[in-house]
Amino acid sequence: MKAKDYQKILHDLSNIIGEAVHVVDARGKTIIYNEEMASLEKTNREDVLGKPFREAFSSIPLEESTLCRALQQNKPTIHQQQTYLNKYGKEITTLNSTIPVEVDGQVIAAIEIGKDITEIKSMSDTILKLQRENLKPEEPGKPEIKRYNFKNLIGENRDFKQVLELAKRAAKTDAPVFIYGETGTGKELFAQSIHFAGQRKDKPFLAQNCAALPESLLEGILFGTEKGGFTGAVDRAGLFEQASGGTLLLDEISAMPYELQSKLLRVLQEDYIRRVGGKKDIPIDVRIIATVNESPKSLIESGALRKDLYYRLNIVNITIPPLRERLDDLPRLVDSFLEKHNRKYGKEVWMVSDGALEKLKNHSYPGNIRELENIIMSAVSLADREHVLTETHIRIQDAYTESASAFGYDPKEASLDEFLKNCEEQILRKSMVDNEGNISRAAKELGIKRQTLQHKLKRFGL
Ligand SMILES: Nc1ncnc2c1ncn2[C@@H]1O[C@H](COP(=O)(O)OP(=O)(O)OP(=O)(O)O)[C@@H](O)[C@H]1O
Ligand SMILES: [Mg+2]
Repeated sequence: MKAKDYQKILHDLSNIIGEAVHVVDARGKTIIYNEEMASLEKTNREDVLGKPFREAFSSIPLEESTLCRALQQNKPTIHQQQTYLNKYGKEITTLNSTIPVEVDGQVIAAIEIGKDITEIKSMSDTILKLQRENLKPEEPGKPEIKRYNFKNLIGENRDFKQVLELAKRAAKTDAPVFIYGETGTGKELFAQSIHFAGQRKDKPFLAQNCAALPESLLEGILFGTEKGGFTGAVDRAGLFEQASGGTLLLDEISAMPYELQSKLLRVLQEDYIRRVGGKKDIPIDVRIIATVNESPKSLIESGALRKDLYYRLNIVNITIPPLRERLDDLPRLVDSFLEKHNRKYGKEVWMVSDGALEKLKNHSYPGNIRELENIIMSAVSLADREHVLTETHIRIQDAYTESASAFGYDPKEASLDEFLKNCEEQILRKSMVDNEGNISRAAKELGIKRQTLQHKLKRFGL
């Protein structure tokens, strides 16, 4: 193939790829600059294409340009987040990667790919803002928010009480706490109780689930961001700064990318943070409570959790027993949930029958206390004027128990036809999400024709 053909292919490729692309040659002259990049940087393509990079972007200091870094130092920059004001004053955030192209030991070009993540960024900012508003110390006259204390933690079981005692002692100290408990065992309850019983109770309690955010955002959320290589930058404090003087709950810490875990470790050892893209060291004063819902041992073995970070955080170890190992607490828990949901639904259920209690005790509770509470809640809401809940009120959801019956099908709940339709809908929904709404790809994955899929989606109103 001729060089000209290659050029044309590259040109067309950069135009359909849907990402912003900027390529400069060895002398820094722009050879590819597509529409996406022009719209991202709010420039005109003509002002950049064919021009020396330094001329077109004279306002950017050379040492901050990732393209120059790639060209002159042969160094890649991967997934750098930048927040800046474009020339219309709109704040945009991009995620950029820049790599040098090397041939026979010579850098012959540099490629930059950029993605506009302004929308995702604004979503994460909203999360931060909501967290701050919801969880800052109560002001008089403000509606009460859900907040837990040790008195909300019900349980007399021997193992449970030991854990509770340990947590109460931990509340009096400032040491990091590592909580391990299966889903629904009360990790959040423990974490809040520890915070609100300690010296930091009048300072913020902030929580971040490490599994809930894409990797590139989590770092900025935790440590904050500072201006990128452009003018008019915007700075933003992360959770570490916002929780200053208080407590930061890091839920599912094993979902945090491995690299970020080592960064977190450094922060905890040195007691200061540096915002993403920033140069200043900012001292921090935050108590860390971390949680996992699988055993730390297996998480370390599988490489999800860094051993060194675990040792740094595991100064106080709270291991909450699952409900199936403390069934002696079941009647107590049931009573308290009856009371709570009577109030909520305006019912007068006083107790559960022996048969109902037996049924409750025979379940294994993969969803732990949350699952039990849901069962009681729906039983209370089903009750009419009865004062005693019987077996028929107690409905144990199949969603929690995979082994209940074939595929969780219960003929009492739905006809086979309904059940199959429901299954189909869920599979379609998942495939569409997995394939980011791309019908062709979803159809290929499912092994059906595109038209068939389209037809089905319409039928389910998806
Ligand atoms: N010891 C307890 N006494 C009373 N209620 C409890 C207890 N433990 C948990 N709960 C209730 O169970 C529910 C789940 O608790 P929580 O959210 O703290 O669990 P979690 O371990 O954080 O779960 P996940 O891993 O899913 O985040 C809450 O509604 C809470 O009120
Ligand atoms: Mg939780």
